[in-house]
Amino acid sequence: MRVYTSKAELSAFISKQSTPSFSLGFVPTMGALHTGHLSLVNTALAENTLVVVSIFVNPTQFDNPNDLNTYPQTLTEDIQLLETLSKSTILVYAPTIEDVYGSKIKVEHFDFGGLESQMEGKFRKGHFDGVGTIVKCLFEIVKPNKAYFGEKDFQQLQIIKKMVQITQLPVTIVGCPIEREPNGLAMSSRNSRLSDEEKKSAALIYKTLQSVKEKFKSKKHSDISYWVTTEFSNHPLFELEYFQISESKNLVPIQQKKQTKYRAFIAVFVGDVRLIDNIALN
Ligand code: PAJ
Repeated sequence: MRVYTSKAELSAFISKQSTPSFSLGFVPTMGALHTGHLSLVNTALAENTLVVVSIFVNPTQFDNPNDLNTYPQTLTEDIQLLETLSKSTILVYAPTIEDVYGSKIKVEHFDFGGLESQMEGKFRKGHFDGVGTIVKCLFEIVKPNKAYFGEKDFQQLQIIKKMVQITQLPVTIVGCPIEREPNGLAMSSRNSRLSDEEKKSAALIYKTLQSVKEKFKSKKHSDISYWVTTEFSNHPLFELEYFQISESKNLVPIQQKKQTKYRAFIAVFVGDVRLIDNIALN
């Protein structure tokens, strides 16, 4: 498998691929790969000639230094996992901070039309400027035809679509469904920091979201929010950071139910590990 740490070498190899129907897929990640990431790579492989997977823990999107310092880094295992999918049609780009940002890290400020002020944006200051900066930068390096993002980070997916619209970069954004553990817990690199007991208990997050979906058919959204808050306040292991029902497209919190698509979003601390999840409600 080709593994690049230099954008110049990666670009040089990509620019040599010139078959008439050549299509380049791209899956940006922060590594510690799991089945969720692999499902994105598999979709990308099915739709493109060649797929670049980037593995880069982007410092500018972390508002919490402890989260950045404890973020799992498993490059050797990540490469082995990717090799089980394809050795010849996946390129790994695992750069240093300098290769991506140069000698001085600069964060671009974006106006995502309000998408950035909800949920993750509210609780993680500057997070989406960091995400926008790195993804734009990676798009400019890789120049993919299509890029793949998980609905696990639904707000991020909407933000990236908006960023592409603003910057007019010629890339199609593809959203992919959430992969879950058998107990319903959404797969996440951060799950590796949970104890077995915490992992088992964290099934409550998806179980709650499924009940929310059921209740959404008949109950008021304020009653549902109250019920969710109570579910978590009664639990010794969890601290609920937010629960929000929003319109799927613009992420505006629900007020009066309209003829539109809604999603429920949740962020929960299990000890010092922060987990997020979401579900389509209609
Ligand atoms: P990371 O958390 O590594 O996730 C990389 C991609 O995998 C994201 O698009 C994310 O939504 C997707 N993903 C994670 N868990 C998933 C799951 N259980 N099911 C389906 N897809 C899943 O998201 C980031 O990295 C970073 O913010 C990044 C976009 C790479 C920018 O640094």
